[in-house]
Amino acid sequence: MTDTPFQTGEEFAAALDARDPLAQYRERFWMPKAKNGEECIYLCGHSLGLQPKTASACIDQELKEWAALGVEGHFHARDPWMPYHRLLTRQTAVLVGAEPAEVVVMNSLSVNLHLMMASFYRPTTQRHKIVVEGGAFPSDQYAVKSQITFHGLDPAASLIELTPRDGESCVRDEDILELIDREGSSIALILLGGVNYATGQRFDIENVTKAGHKNGCIVGFDLAHAAGNVPLQLHGWGPDFAVWCSYKYLNGGPGCVAGCFVHARHARAFQLPRFAGWWGHDEGSRFQMGPDFHPMSGAEGWQLSNPPILALAPLRASMEIFAEAGIEPLRAKSLRLTAYMEFLIKKMLPNCTVITPPEPVRRGAQLSIRIPRGGRALCDRLIAEGVIGDWREPDTFRVAAVPLYNSYRDVYRFAQTFARLLS
Ligand SMILES: Cc1ncc(COP(=O)(O)O)c(C=O)c1O
Repeated sequence: MTDTPFQTGEEFAAALDARDPLAQYRERFWMPKAKNGEECIYLCGHSLGLQPKTASACIDQELKEWAALGVEGHFHARDPWMPYHRLLTRQTAVLVGAEPAEVVVMNSLSVNLHLMMASFYRPTTQRHKIVVEGGAFPSDQYAVKSQITFHGLDPAASLIELTPRDGESCVRDEDILELIDREGSSIALILLGGVNYATGQRFDIENVTKAGHKNGCIVGFDLAHAAGNVPLQLHGWGPDFAVWCSYKYLNGGPGCVAGCFVHARHARAFQLPRFAGWWGHDEGSRFQMGPDFHPMSGAEGWQLSNPPILALAPLRASMEIFAEAGIEPLRAKSLRLTAYMEFLIKKMLPNCTVITPPEPVRRGAQLSIRIPRGGRALCDRLIAEGVIGDWREPDTFRVAAVPLYNSYRDVYRFAQTFARLLS
């Protein structure tokens, strides 16, 4: 049934669910309940992923270790806290297509973005510009503008925002490459999202990186909406750095510890300036408590603080599930779920427009739906009925069918409820 043309009707959704090889993973997550006591139709994994049922046991384990061992838990807990963050390294590396030494789980996304720019945004008189997607997530806009002004420069002259052509919602890939070639000699840093938060457009990391490097630029990515959503090959595609959060598709919990990738070519770039903290210091001599900072090689050399064990614990629960399910099978289901959602929107919601690119390779799980009138109120009514997506001003409703826990029936019921409210 993987290639059967889609049909409307709930029986068809049920038939797709019956053949879904990943259907059992839904049972591994707590599905929020609507006011009527029924399970929500939760399509908001692009904002906050659901809680794995094993998350509380993972946190509880560390609370018990703390109660029983106090400070000795750093060395004698079942999973000692001193190297605890490394329990996530291998699975994280697999998920983003990196070598283990290229990734570290630390801090939060915006902090990691600043740490990366402190090292990799090195403007000169000739090469000082940062390229971002127009309408990048506000935190990224604030971060890049503040980095530019921190270097005594003016965002009006040093920031380039990629905007769609008139009448279009997404930036064309060829326009990005053309801009990099045209402006290349003045660009210090290209910083794009893996998937844009508002439109759901997925960017071509490999070719943007190639074009940037050909022009001597540093290339970084914000993968908040890409990690755990689409397969990534960061080592092979070669960006200099990437950052992401773990609370969206990675289901690590609200405000969970974030991820950071630094390409192996920079593993021993100790001459790069960096904002240092003791957890980035060479492990062998960290506890000699010397006054001078000697960074570890690899991404771990950018760590600042000792890791928050209670925040890392639930992420372990989720990463175990990812390791079992595998990102490629998840993507295969995601492609089908999203195509089905698009099909139903076209059939059942004729007044709405999907602004996310139609080509599967140019999007992940999220669809951004432009609603002609009264969108905000409609969104509130949907949520009141237990259909959870989110609203982004001025006119967009975002939904994502997440292959780990969403079913085809969720997608059908979403379209059905939406159509009823619209009419
Ligand atoms: C694309 C993007 N970048 C940055 C952020 C900010 O993340 P944080 O608050 O974890 O720093 C978000 C948050 O949703 C985001 O979606």
